[in-house]
Amino acid sequence: MVALGTTLSAFWIMVNNNWMQYPVGYIIQGGVYVPDDWLKIIFSPVVWVRFPHMLLAAYVTGAFCVAATGAWYTLRRMCPAEARIMLRMGLLLAAILVPVQLLFGHLVGDYVHRYQPIKFATIEARWHDEQPASEVLLAWPDSAHEKNDYAISVPVLGSLIASMTLDSKEVGLTDFARSERPPIVIPFFAFRVMVGCGLIMLLVCTA
Ligand code: HEM
Repeated sequence: MVALGTTLSAFWIMVNNNWMQYPVGYIIQGGVYVPDDWLKIIFSPVVWVRFPHMLLAAYVTGAFCVAATGAWYTLRRMCPAEARIMLRMGLLLAAILVPVQLLFGHLVGDYVHRYQPIKFATIEARWHDEQPASEVLLAWPDSAHEKNDYAISVPVLGSLIASMTLDSKEVGLTDFARSERPPIVIPFFAFRVMVGCGLIMLLVCTA
């Protein structure tokens, strides 16, 4: 019952958050967006990739907590039989869920690319249109001068990740007015921490 309740609660939070990011089924009253068609809002296709991504994040975290507890007991030679079961069950669940999570992460990225191009360019720290686009792995984004310092980039990979082609044109932040652009440093690094954690998790549970 508790699991069902928390899942439903997470679902409504995601529906709400999703609607604020990509509104559907609304009318504008006095300059304010007002929900109008709840079926459209609930069945917005973006919800059905962002909600699983969020839910999987919780399950993956749970799996690693169980595995970490097992590892902690094992290192201290406490309750060895139970510790081994915890470690194995946690890592097995993670080995199943982490690849699915990375796939959903990619699908969420597809929606951001399609519906929120400014956010996509921000996450990618892409300042100018590029064709084919490179992927910035790491850099220090410099908003004042609209460039990246100390960038480590891979040519063409940006087009491949964003559009699954080797030659797509990807838009840069300078296509948008400065007033429309979000702050770049936090989304840029937060995204890399998320993907980095996902790759480390994949390594840990499949090694
Ligand atoms: C290849 C790996 C991954 C990719 C490409 C990816 C992609 C994304 C994208 C594009 C967003 C939406 C950001 C936004 O709209 O502001 C997002 C959000 C999120 N991701 Fe990931 N992700 C990946 C791995 C992970 C992992 C491993 C976890 C946790 C175990 C995770 C947890 C989350 C959470 C909690 C959110 C916020 C929920 C939301 O805004 O929809 N992600 N991810």
